[in-house]
Amino acid sequence: MDVSVILTYRCNSRCSTCHVWQHPTLPAEEVTLAVLAKLPGGLDRLVLTGGEPTLRADLGEIVDCLRPKARQLEISTNGLQADKLEPIAAKHPDVRFRLSLDGLGARNDSIRGEKNGFERKMATLRRLVAAGARDLGFAATLQDENADQLLELYRLCSDFGGELAVAALHNGFLYHKIDNESANRVRLARAVQPLIAARLRSRRPRNWFRAHSELGLMRKILGQPRGRPCTAGRDCACVDPWGRVYACPIRPDLEIGDLAAQTWREILRGPRAAEARTRVARCTHNCWPAGTAGRPGRFPGLRPFAWIAAHRLRGVGGGPVDFDREVDFADVAQSPVVPRRESWLGKPFRPAFQRKSERPYGAFNNGMNR
Ligand SMILES: C[S@@+](CC[C@H](N)C(=O)[O-])C[C@H]1O[C@@H](n2cnc3c(N)ncnc32)[C@H](O)[C@@H]1O
Repeated sequence: MDVSVILTYRCNSRCSTCHVWQHPTLPAEEVTLAVLAKLPGGLDRLVLTGGEPTLRADLGEIVDCLRPKARQLEISTNGLQADKLEPIAAKHPDVRFRLSLDGLGARNDSIRGEKNGFERKMATLRRLVAAGARDLGFAATLQDENADQLLELYRLCSDFGGELAVAALHNGFLYHKIDNESANRVRLARAVQPLIAARLRSRRPRNWFRAHSELGLMRKILGQPRGRPCTAGRDCACVDPWGRVYACPIRPDLEIGDLAAQTWREILRGPRAAEARTRVARCTHNCWPAGTAGRPGRFPGLRPFAWIAAHRLRGVGGGPVDFDREVDFADVAQSPVVPRRESWLGKPFRPAFQRKSERPYGAFNNGMNR
């Protein structure tokens, strides 16, 4: 099972796609190490995220405690605080670091509201390499504002032997957002084509499988079913900064328990988890990635092997991907009309703390996110 732990909603980025930084948690109310220690062993993947996980003073201790519980532990970070990450990389070289990067130079800084963010991430990357980190990469959230730079982000990543993970833009309680939409779905989906072609040319098999799964990303962007059922609540779950457990980080109505008050086993075997799973089976959110859809590392079935062989082994009749055959670009969902997302870089804003005692996710617990 995969578990994401949202350690805090405090954040030192000011992303236009995610407004958690406007609604930080109080450090004194955030899930404690003792509660996190109740997570079971034998997990496939544990992702520490936020808000910004490096703002937790006890991040090092949390990693020490949770690393043995999962085959793979990932820190999803803005990479702005190398001092916090470097000792973790030195002590746990197998921890996976994914630095969020939404564009080159000023483009990243504008989307993510990060002063000199691009330069600071590159400096962090160099320090993590020097500290011995073995699994480094970038995570990009694909959107109208960075579609033209996707291939360059991939090349930047490949240049240092790292991985590029691409996520689609979502609404959801994790992001405290209900207005993330694409103005031009076809253009956005087409932007994935050169990335897929480049991945297929790479020598790393992981890239080939990502290439195949990103056909699903293209379909998802167009508004078509992404092709694999979501298994949230069964194969993955999410812990929020107050220790509440959800089937996924998108729908606040899929709360299944409270790790501070229950054991993990009680939560997953309880009636709320069972009810959430039936609702997940009917969910129309079509998230990317979600549940286990499209995630490299699980056996993906035989179809990707055949597809990869056809497009890698040109000598035996294969060739470049015919995207218009693979994806129906005429079947496009209409995006709701929303105001253009604004950059928060350098703009004044006073965040208001959200408390554990408030109704969870107030404004985000509505139709858009259910
Ligand atoms: C919410 S952040 C939290 C972790 C950390 N602060 C960071 O910047 O990576 C986790 C990932 O979600 C991505 N993200 C932000 N807004 C998003 C949205 N609306 N839809 C999908 N992914 C989003 C970020 O770019 C980042 O890669």
